[in-house]
Amino acid sequence: MTQLLDPYQREIKYLRLSVTDRCDLRCSYCIPKGFKDFERPPHWLDFDEIERLLQVMAQLGLQRVRLTGGEPLLRKGLAELAARISAIDGIDDLSLSTNATQLTSQASALYHAGVRRINVSLDSLDRQGFADITGRDTLHEVLDGLEQARDSGFQPIKINMVVMKGVNDMEVDKMVRFCMEKNFILRLIEVMPMGDTGRQTQFVDLQPISQRLQAEFGLVEGIVPGGGPARYLQSVDGRFSLGFITPLSQHFCATCNRVRLAVDGTLYLCLGQEDKYEFRPLLRDKVSDATLADAVLEAIAQKPERHEFREQPAKLVRFMNMTGG
Ligand SMILES: C[S@@+](CC[C@H](N)C(=O)[O-])C[C@H]1O[C@@H](n2cnc3c(N)ncnc32)[C@H](O)[C@@H]1O
Ligand code: SF4
Repeated sequence: MTQLLDPYQREIKYLRLSVTDRCDLRCSYCIPKGFKDFERPPHWLDFDEIERLLQVMAQLGLQRVRLTGGEPLLRKGLAELAARISAIDGIDDLSLSTNATQLTSQASALYHAGVRRINVSLDSLDRQGFADITGRDTLHEVLDGLEQARDSGFQPIKINMVVMKGVNDMEVDKMVRFCMEKNFILRLIEVMPMGDTGRQTQFVDLQPISQRLQAEFGLVEGIVPGGGPARYLQSVDGRFSLGFITPLSQHFCATCNRVRLAVDGTLYLCLGQEDKYEFRPLLRDKVSDATLADAVLEAIAQKPERHEFREQPAKLVRFMNMTGG
């Protein structure tokens, strides 16, 4: 029985752990080009600090952790951290969100460290389109990384595609066919107004696209275990699943089960709000486990009911790389 119950009776069992806010890409909707204001290394939680906080959270009911960033594969020793998290009593699901540019060399070590599920950002299958969106000509590395992930045993592999008007919305059908052929789950995502980058991106409402794809590909309503906030369609034989993450056109806050820990030890209680709790001072002061546990409960008690992306789109100045999506 979890003790991590928020004021709206939601059980918070899931932590998204940002292990760095840095990234080797500059996706147009995420980190601005020329951005320099990254967290300084002395402020990064080290592996001992992360492990300790997660142990305390696991004792209170945390069960699932996702490694994210920034780009998590840039954090030195990520596989060692993954192994330490996998070994924590109570944590039974460790997953990774990555842009996959460096996955070829790291996939196998991460699998052996206990990471089982992987989400890869991929917004375009066109070399030039990919380079225009991400600022780097690395589509080839990403596709190789995906093959390596499959060979290493990751299952499922999910592709995350942020759909942008006039940028890649014309590529959605191509991405569906690619994922059907490769046996990847595809999730289409509505851009969120996080930072100027998110707000300046041309939003696409995914509801009409969902109806069109359902008819075009003969899909039916589906369920994916651990599918998170996405609503799913699937092929009749169940081999292909297509998810829609629609924070704006149809929000899913009532079933939110997660909080986000930034690399500097700030726990963000909601992706779309500023509510937060600073854990670095407590960890550096070497407070007792009991004090840390009280702080976690105090933080969870502050979780807001919902985001206000629609009502207050200008509210969030932070970019997505701080909280890892
Ligand atoms: C911040 S990234 C971190 C992990 C990794 N670098 C990656 O790209 O998967 C996590 C997810 O957030 C998504 N994302 C970033 N900015 C976004 C925005 N403004 N709106 C919606 N999704 C966004 C990315 O597409 C990605 O799927
Ligand atoms: S979405 Fe991921 S890959 Fe793209 S800039 Fe943000 S952190 Fe980097």
